[in-house]
Amino acid sequence: MKDNEIQGLYAEISRRMSVRDYRPGELDDTDLGKIEEGRKSLAALDDSAALLRVIPAEKAGVSFGHAPCCLCSYAKDDDDARLNASFLLQEMSLYLSTLGFGSCWVGMAKPKNGFLEYEGLPFFKLLVFGKAAGAYRRESVSQFKRKNLSEITDIPGESKVLEAVRLAPSAMNRQGWKLYAEGTKIRLYMANNNFLVKKLMDPLTIADAGIALCHLWTAAKALGVFRASGKETEGLPHIKGFSYVQTIELTEFK
Ligand SMILES: Cc1cc2nc3c(=O)[nH]c(=O)nc-3n(C[C@H](O)[C@H](O)[C@H](O)COP(=O)(O)O)c2cc1C
Repeated sequence: MKDNEIQGLYAEISRRMSVRDYRPGELDDTDLGKIEEGRKSLAALDDSAALLRVIPAEKAGVSFGHAPCCLCSYAKDDDDARLNASFLLQEMSLYLSTLGFGSCWVGMAKPKNGFLEYEGLPFFKLLVFGKAAGAYRRESVSQFKRKNLSEITDIPGESKVLEAVRLAPSAMNRQGWKLYAEGTKIRLYMANNNFLVKKLMDPLTIADAGIALCHLWTAAKALGVFRASGKETEGLPHIKGFSYVQTIELTEFK
């Protein structure tokens, strides 16, 4: 993604919304061309194996609010790759919004046989997209139903990068993230799932974590304060009920 496109993605964070009702009809070749261009220029979280593919919803056997298209993610069978796939899906969702399309993650949906593997990678999660029948953006941040910043972090004061995570979408709007800082490092933790629902919910938690990292990364890049991202292995505080995911380091807090 070019710098001006990242600014565009950042602007969508504070106005996007999930769209559950779409105008019927296929997208034309011009629109599909622009979408494909965006898909090819996505910045990945890291080099773990993850890919996205646009498929007409009918062909994929995915039916959700008359959406004409779906965007399927494929990832190597490990959590790092699934995190990267979710990061890419959310980046694409923001990009679609810049083009005037609505989208919605559909956490439990799967494409039909024939689309469950792509270039040797298994299917992970998908979102649907198309022209919204109604609104695809919010008019003000007050329309987001979200926790307060103080519920997801103990980092004091206002921060634009933390606000970008606060506004992120999550499965069932659970917002299971916590953000901690050490100097200019921001560490993302996710709430652990109860053992009874772990199998079902862990993939959704990874998706939510990838989305949060996408918003954090996009804000840090757009505000010109991104230094590095990656997994720390030593000296991490243990947070009861939460698991560490990744760290994004800033050049200065914004
Ligand atoms: C991983 C994931 C899975 C989701 N699955 C569904 C779904 O199956 N059906 C649905 O209507 N919305 C789904 N959503 C949308 C969330 O309900 C929505 O993001 C959340 O309520 C916040 O609302 P907003 O996206 O409009 O800001 C999903 C979102 C995420 C991130």
